[in-house]
Amino acid sequence: MAPTPATSSGPIVVMKLGSSVLRQSADLPAAVHAIYRCLCRGERVVAVVSALGNTTNELISLAGQVADAHQDPPHPEGFATLLSTGETTAMALLCVALQRAGIPAAGLDADRAGLRAEGPLLDAELTKLDRDAILEVLALRPVVVLPGFVARAPAGAICLLGRGGSDLTALFVAAQLDAARCVLCKDVDGIFDADPKDTESARRYAQISFDDAMEHPAQVVQAKAVRYAASRALRFDVKRLDADRATTVGAARTELAPTPTSPTRPLRVALLGLGTVGWAVYRELAIAPRFEVVGIAVRDRAKHAFDAVPDELIATDPWEVADRDCDLLIELIGGFEPATRIIARALGRGQHVVTANKAVIAECGERLERLADSHAAHFAYAAAVGGAVPMLEHLIALAADGPPRAISGVLNGTCNFVLDQIAQGAGFEQAVAEAQTAGFAEADPTLDLDGSDAAQKLAIIARLGMGEALAWRTISRRGIDRGVVDQVRVAQANNSIVRLVASCERGSGGVLARVEPIVLPSSHPLARVGGAGNCLITELDDGNRHVLRGAGAGRWPTAESVLSDVFRVARRCETRDSGVDRFLSTRRAGQRRAG
Ligand code: HSE
Repeated sequence: MAPTPATSSGPIVVMKLGSSVLRQSADLPAAVHAIYRCLCRGERVVAVVSALGNTTNELISLAGQVADAHQDPPHPEGFATLLSTGETTAMALLCVALQRAGIPAAGLDADRAGLRAEGPLLDAELTKLDRDAILEVLALRPVVVLPGFVARAPAGAICLLGRGGSDLTALFVAAQLDAARCVLCKDVDGIFDADPKDTESARRYAQISFDDAMEHPAQVVQAKAVRYAASRALRFDVKRLDADRATTVGAARTELAPTPTSPTRPLRVALLGLGTVGWAVYRELAIAPRFEVVGIAVRDRAKHAFDAVPDELIATDPWEVADRDCDLLIELIGGFEPATRIIARALGRGQHVVTANKAVIAECGERLERLADSHAAHFAYAAAVGGAVPMLEHLIALAADGPPRAISGVLNGTCNFVLDQIAQGAGFEQAVAEAQTAGFAEADPTLDLDGSDAAQKLAIIARLGMGEALAWRTISRRGIDRGVVDQVRVAQANNSIVRLVASCERGSGGVLARVEPIVLPSSHPLARVGGAGNCLITELDDGNRHVLRGAGAGRWPTAESVLSDVFRVARRCETRDSGVDRFLSTRRAGQRRAG
C-alpha cells in the first residue's frame, strides 16, 4: 500500500461563539455539536471564541480593585493582557471539549495565528492574519479555535479590539481565509425589529443591509465589525447555535422573515440502552428543552441506581419502552436481536429511529431504509461507523459524483488501541482488557478482534460509498490474536506499524473487499492514527484522495455522532421539513448514481 499524503479539504466556515452562547463551561458541548454539524457537511471550521459569560466584566472589576481609581483604564498593557485571558481560557476549554468528543482541533493564540492590529491598545483595528499558518493547521485537522477580541500590536503588546470585538475577529478571519460562510452565533435567532425577549410580536429580519445593521439599536453585531464587513462586501449570518433560522447581513435590502409557524412541542424520545454511549446521550437529552425522554431500557436496574435517572423512566423490557408514546426511538442496546425487530416495528409505525448498531445496519440497513421511506420516518445511523469521524456523510457526499475507486480505513478502535499498546510493550490480553475498561470494545470483544466489527462497517461503507450490497460475513477477514505481537515487534524493527485495515476496491468483477492486519510504513496516514482512532482514505477516479481521521470509538465520540443524528431529526420535525435534510437526501442521490 503506497503512502498517501494526508489532506483535509472542504470549504471553510468561520463560526463566532460569543459570551451569550458560551455562558459557562456547561455550554461547551452545544458549541461542539454545532462545530460537528459543520464537519458532517464536509466543512472545516475556524471557531472564534469570546470569554465565557461574564468573565470580561469580572476581569474589569478585578483590575478596578487593584487600580488607582483616578486612572481609567489602569495600565492599558496590563489591562489588555488581563482581559485577553478570558478569550484564551475559552479557547483552551473549547479545545478540551472538542477533544473529549474525538474531534481533532488546534487552538492558536493571537501570536500563532499572526493576528496583528494597530491603533489604540484597547480599541485597535485588525491588520493581519497569518493565513498560511491557519491553512497549514487546517490541512491536518478540521477545526482551528482562535481567541476573538485579542491581537498583537506592532510593538508586541497584547491589544484588544473594543467591546464586542470577537465579531470583528470572526469577520476579519473570514475575509482573510476567503471562507465560504461566516456565522456569528448569538442567543437569539437573528436580528429583530424589536427585542424578542420583551416583545412577543418582534419579527426577525431574513436579511438586513449593512447600513441598517450598523444603525440597529440593539447592536446585536458590533458596529465596527459591520463597518468592516461592509467595506469588504462580506455577507454573514447571525443565528442561534443550533437553529437553521438566521438573519443574513449583507448588501441586499432589509427584509423581514415570514411570520414563524407556531412552536412545536418537545420531541418525545424512547432510549434503549444506558451503557457507555447511552448514558452520555441521556445526559444531553435530559437538559435540552426540545426533548422529553419518555423511557429508558436498561439491562440491569441495580446498575443504574446512582445515575440520577428518574425511576419511572427506567424499565428492563426494551419492547415495553419502545411501546411508550414516542416520536423518536434511539437504539443503543447493540446486537442483532431484538434490536432489528424493535427498530422495524418503530419505523413501520412512522416513528423516527436513530441507532449506532452496525450489526443491524450491515445486515438489513437497506430493508430498514425502505421501510422508513415508505412510512415517512427518518432513519439515521451515522454512529454505526467511525465514531466521531463523519465517514458515512462524507462518502454519501462523494458518491453523489460517482463511486470512488477504492476506500480503505482503520475502522476498529479496539484493534488499533490494542496494536498501539503492544507496540508500547503491553501483552495482548492486557491490551484487550484495557480497551474493554476504556469502553472501546464491544460487549463481546471477539467481534472486534476477529475482524467482524470492521467487516460490518466495511459492508455499510461499500453500500453507501460504492452502491455495492456486500454480505458482511462473506468479506474475507483476518483479525488479530496473540500471534500479532511478533508481527508488531518485527514491524517496529523496520520503522513500520501494524494496522487492521478494511478495504474495498472496484474491479472488473465487482467490488473486492477484505479486512486484514497490514504492515505499513510509519509515515502512512493509516499508520498515523493512534489509540482508538479511526481513519478513512477515499480514492477517486481522478486520482484525488481524501483522508478523514478522528476518534472512532468510546463514550463521547460515539455519543457526539448519535446526538448529531438526533438533532438532525429534531430540526426536521421542528421545521416540519420533510425533504431538505442533507444526510438523508444525499444518501438517496448517492445511492441512485452509485447503484
Ligand atoms: N468496538 C468498536 C470499536 C466500537 O472498537 O471500534 C465503535 O464502533
